[in-house]
Amino acid sequence: MTEGTPKDIGQALAEIDITRPNVARVYDYFVGGKDNFSADREFAHKAMEIAPKAPLAAQANREFLQRVVRYLVREAGITQFLDIGSGLPTAGNTSEVAHEIDPGVHVVYVDNDPIVYTHSKALLADAVTVDIINADIRSPAEILTDPAVLRLLDFDQPIGLLLLAVLHHIEDSEDPAWIAARLRDAMPAGSYLAISSFHMPGPELPELRAKTIEGEKLLAQNLGSGRWREEDQIQTWFGDWEMIPPGLVSLREWRPPAGGRIEHDEVYHSFWGGVARKK
Ligand SMILES: C[S@@+](CC[C@H](N)C(=O)[O-])C[C@H]1O[C@@H](n2cnc3c(N)ncnc32)[C@H](O)[C@@H]1O
Repeated sequence: MTEGTPKDIGQALAEIDITRPNVARVYDYFVGGKDNFSADREFAHKAMEIAPKAPLAAQANREFLQRVVRYLVREAGITQFLDIGSGLPTAGNTSEVAHEIDPGVHVVYVDNDPIVYTHSKALLADAVTVDIINADIRSPAEILTDPAVLRLLDFDQPIGLLLLAVLHHIEDSEDPAWIAARLRDAMPAGSYLAISSFHMPGPELPELRAKTIEGEKLLAQNLGSGRWREEDQIQTWFGDWEMIPPGLVSLREWRPPAGGRIEHDEVYHSFWGGVARKK
């Protein structure tokens, strides 16, 4: 298992490579952000030859994040978030959405990407309730003992732990279930865990399954990570926490806005998520 360590800005800047496509920047391009380079856009268009609706999948994930954060602040009374694999600070991120409801909410973002870190750090220079650390989810102990985490989060009060579109970047050999369990164990009772993940379409959809495997190879070759998981495997990441209705479902089916029609296309089958509460 590769161990990541929190880094300072100088180290992070030295690691930035814009000549190769990168997970955070390709995602940023798909959700309409401006923090991406030609290598990212070229790869994004290659991916769209296999999965033309890839940008819609990224947008569905971002909308899921926003519905989850609103639910947690407004209905569950959560006042602090640990958002791991937070991504580039595209409009509508966790702190923006939470602060529209309660400006006092504390958020710690965590990402192992140097551009995400340096860019977010600059934007958050004056923030009092929000910070970002450059750390790797594969080293949960380092995240949980980081000074910014300990300064902004009170581990005696419920925490909203967000693992959105990040565990699918962890290989089976790096044990995403172990990582999720370490993070769950550190959360106090009453905390919530939200997960979204690439989901492998079922055997009843052989063509889509074959295309998904092709897409998985493309991501592995170009971005180095990106795994589509079976429903059972994603479910294990919630441990024995109590699933909030409607459970682990297609992202579009998780508390959708009233009146919208849910299309059962490849986006529907390929990106799932849910929220659970620690008893
Ligand atoms: C697809 S983006 C998701 C952004 C945001 N969570 C969302 O759902 O809109 C995935 C993010 O996870 C980050 N990431 C990937 N592997 C990671 C790791 N091992 N540790 C921390 N962050 C990681 C990437 O840098 C990227 O910013």
